[in-house]
Amino acid sequence: MKILVVGSGGREHALAWKLAQSERVQTIFVAPGNGGTATDIRLKNIDITDPATLADFVQQEQIELTVVGPEVPLAAGIVNIFRDRGLKIFGPSKEAAQLESSKDFAKAFMHRHQIPTAEYQTFSDVQAAHDYISAKGAPIVIKADGLAAGKGVVVAMSLDEAHAAVDMMLSDNKLGDAGARVVIEEFLAGEEASFIVMVDGKNILPLATSQDHKRLLDNDEGPNTGGMGAYSPAPIVTPQLHARVMREIIVPTVQGMAKDGIVFTGFLYAGLMIDEHGTPKTLEFNCRMGDPETQPIMARLKTDLVNVMEHAVNGTLDTVELEWDRRTAMGVVMAAAGYPDAPRKGDKITGIPTETPDSVTFHAGTVLNDKVLSTNGGRVLCVVGLGDTVKLAQKHAYDVVEKIHFDGAQYRRDIGWRALNRKH
Ligand SMILES: Nc1ncnc2c1ncn2[C@@H]1O[C@H](COP(=O)(O)OP(=O)(O)O)[C@@H](O)[C@H]1O
Ligand SMILES: [Mg+2]
Repeated sequence: MKILVVGSGGREHALAWKLAQSERVQTIFVAPGNGGTATDIRLKNIDITDPATLADFVQQEQIELTVVGPEVPLAAGIVNIFRDRGLKIFGPSKEAAQLESSKDFAKAFMHRHQIPTAEYQTFSDVQAAHDYISAKGAPIVIKADGLAAGKGVVVAMSLDEAHAAVDMMLSDNKLGDAGARVVIEEFLAGEEASFIVMVDGKNILPLATSQDHKRLLDNDEGPNTGGMGAYSPAPIVTPQLHARVMREIIVPTVQGMAKDGIVFTGFLYAGLMIDEHGTPKTLEFNCRMGDPETQPIMARLKTDLVNVMEHAVNGTLDTVELEWDRRTAMGVVMAAAGYPDAPRKGDKITGIPTETPDSVTFHAGTVLNDKVLSTNGGRVLCVVGLGDTVKLAQKHAYDVVEKIHFDGAQYRRDIGWRALNRKH
């Protein structure tokens, strides 16, 4: 069968790589793909991004299944367009994708269904927002309502920072429409984890747990990024905590959406903050898999992903049991010079070793031109190492990272430190 993966990042390379391992697959198209998907003979890049044009392509090529990676086409309604034409696609409808595309929608939803999250209020009026901040005090968190590619949240440790964030979004319109409304919420302390499940409208299938590193520099310092590394499993998510998150957050979310008349299908990702007592609260929802969490998760998945996806689009996920590699998978992101503010493009990349049982390199911001591989975006590669211990997985990842070269490469040396420090 033929399959289409929509997107061009490391997440999509990892999904396509895993789907391609199925014996049932003839060709996997990736739209638009990257230098890594261009190199893999089982994958074929196609230069289309417009959802309706993609649906035309799927009909012409008789592609049986489409999997969507990023949030932007989901929020634009790619799933609605495909379903209207009777095409099978895994992802949420435009309406369901509001869980991610509007933070105000998500907060109101969680409030309505008693799903644990930070206390909040939403504003479009500048003065009212300033007054609320003055009344609440710092630390406090300011979030643009709409999609902002990871740049829409300011965790303000002081009142000055908080007021400046409101001015940036509401007065100076620095984030455009995405920042025309802001959610202002209570600061939550604790440790973050990513909790990702597949939903077929009714049945919920949890994926392996994971944790990522958002900050650019070692010791979780420096600016926020799209993610500098991630690993699976996340030891903080004990079986007890897993059960609690399912009971208090995931199941009420899926049931709540159905009650509100918006059936949720697709990947559902709850960003969690777990406090010192082990109590989880929801920071946000994403309605797709995480990047870079997908890379270590796919590296551990043993089950045929094509079969899983078929059950997901047919509403039979209750019959699926996932099998995972018991090892830890550690993904280290190599980013371009200037990332995250102004990533440089066009640096030649050399030294990527072939995949081994202990390591695989997924591409993100890369491009292949005349057989030359160059940087083409902020996060360039995600190198995943696998090992029986966290330490060994880390070693296998960094052994590969050290073989790869491009000018100005930035990467952290301490990916996985929380998992390493944890006493079992
Ligand atoms: N209420 C909060 N308290 C403390 N930190 C927060 C809070 N909300 C978000 N953050 C921090 O900001 C980051 C980004 O926020 P998030 O809601 O995940 O938005 P997005 O991923 O859309 O940028 C989180 O990963 C977390 O580190
Ligand atoms: Mg987030």
